[in-house]
Amino acid sequence: MHVLIVFCHPEPDSFNGALRDVAIETLTSQGHSIEISDLYAEEFNPVEGPTHFPNRADPDVFFPLTEQRHAFESGSLPGDIRREINRLERADLVILQFPLWWHAQPAMLKGWFDRVFVYGGLYSGGMRYDRGRFPDKRVICSVTTGAPASTFSRHGRSGHIVTLMWPIHYSLYYLGVQVLPPQITYGVQGGGLSYEAEAEFRERLEAEKSAWAQRLEGLAGESAIPFAGWSDWDERGMLDETHPWAWRL
Ligand SMILES: Cc1cc2nc3c(=O)[nH]c(=O)nc-3n(C[C@H](O)[C@H](O)[C@H](O)COP(=O)(O)O)c2cc1C
Repeated sequence: MHVLIVFCHPEPDSFNGALRDVAIETLTSQGHSIEISDLYAEEFNPVEGPTHFPNRADPDVFFPLTEQRHAFESGSLPGDIRREINRLERADLVILQFPLWWHAQPAMLKGWFDRVFVYGGLYSGGMRYDRGRFPDKRVICSVTTGAPASTFSRHGRSGHIVTLMWPIHYSLYYLGVQVLPPQITYGVQGGGLSYEAEAEFRERLEAEKSAWAQRLEGLAGESAIPFAGWSDWDERGMLDETHPWAWRL
């Protein structure tokens, strides 16, 4: 299997960096090949805008989706985007490694979604959700948080983790990939901000690294998060009322 790790952290020696290294070591020792998109180290530009499109479909008004499709179809996508798409296409498994910042992915990774998930290339009106481009690709988010696990429970003070992950997971499902349940490492708050004593904190982080390694070893047997698909929606895009999930609405 070929694995792409999209690493989104400004500090290579952070705990996120340690989790990246755990993934590299574990998957390499299983015989898998690894490729890294190191967004900060590679100085990825996450801001979508007109400067990336010198050969415009519409030189007067900048419509991002129009220009993305035109650039894809005319073979004039920026080099960094072509590189990221090639990396994505090669991968059987994609690991997105990032810290939770302001209840979401860091802007750097959000911008990677904005620019790399090219309209008219990676998705379109007829090529999304369970008719998406990448039905065989599996993606997993490995996320660290500062706050402890209990606070991410339903109505907890950090917000429900399922709700916080929803926009990220749903964007990935939009591309048609299989989204695996996330690996969330809670309470990674060093630098004197920790909720626990230093020794206890360090010991827990080591255990979290082992848990990630163990999970990666068994990842092949895991099932993806179930989402509704085209056969579940009516012509208004609503869940059909005969669908088994409809009673929850
Ligand atoms: C800009 C910023 C925003 C943050 N927002 C959150 C947040 O919304 N929830 C949370 O639990 N932690 C938040 N944190 C804490 C980070 O998630 C935490 O420091 C990180 O996961 C620790 O991993 P690291 O040592 O690899 O950076 C934030 C940190 C920064 C720098």
